[in-house]
Amino acid sequence: MKIVETFDALQEALLRLKRPLGFVPTMGYLHEGHLSLVKRAKQDCESVVVSIFANPAQFAPDEDLDNYPRDIDRDLELLTGVGTNLVWIPSVINMYPEDFQTWINVEQVTKPLEGQVRNTHFQGVTTVVSKLFNAVRPDKSYFGQKDAQQAVVIKQMVRDLNYPIEIVICPIVREVDGLAMSSRNSYLNEEERQAALCLSQGLSKAEEAFHKGEKNAEKIREIVASVIDEEQLAELQYVSCAHPETLEELEGEIESCLLSMAVFIGRTRLIDNILLLQPKT
Ligand code: PAF
Repeated sequence: MKIVETFDALQEALLRLKRPLGFVPTMGYLHEGHLSLVKRAKQDCESVVVSIFANPAQFAPDEDLDNYPRDIDRDLELLTGVGTNLVWIPSVINMYPEDFQTWINVEQVTKPLEGQVRNTHFQGVTTVVSKLFNAVRPDKSYFGQKDAQQAVVIKQMVRDLNYPIEIVICPIVREVDGLAMSSRNSYLNEEERQAALCLSQGLSKAEEAFHKGEKNAEKIREIVASVIDEEQLAELQYVSCAHPETLEELEGEIESCLLSMAVFIGRTRLIDNILLLQPKT
């Protein structure tokens, strides 16, 4: 596995890789969720490139960039284990030189959900992903359904800017007890780790109700909210029952939805989601 830092070294290393080329952008501190993306890329493509870059532009000043967990040696060991061909670890100054002044903004699908509470977040994500795509020029790029809105936003950007890249969205990877894998889970102490189960439990309860016939959007949101409410260490930031593609909030009877939420467990903000779809007849 080759490791490069500069843009020039990346370009030289890319020349040696066979196509099709799969690309997995990450912010490091990898877990099984990230590795599932690399494994899927490995199945689909001749070569796989992974980037590790904790992107400052997607963190607000009051968010946790400085404390964002990092362990590059462990990341590299994990990436070797799943057959990654090339790892790119750019520096902040390389990605955002002092005179940097160009931003990518996807307009509508960035507004609701995460966009309502983290208003510069998606501008940071789309700008960095666009820069990463321009540098790596992959055939396919892999993202997790865990960041459901990010997946919708990236697909929109790729369509709007005519990137010749297929975006592949891979399922959420969960711990055996249901907690969705996230680098941020490492912030949780033992008690909070237990409390964090209320997210997946809320989603499962709503899913069960949906499949038993509960199709009212407000009621589905209430089911999730009441499970979160029962957990003392949890504070619900939002729960949403939205159109899976436009992300518009749904009211009344629904056929399908992206049920998603953000919850504070102590000081740690976690997100989780599920797609509620009618079984195909
Ligand atoms: O999902 C992430 O880890 C990040 O948002 C991404 C796509 C690597 C961009 O920094």
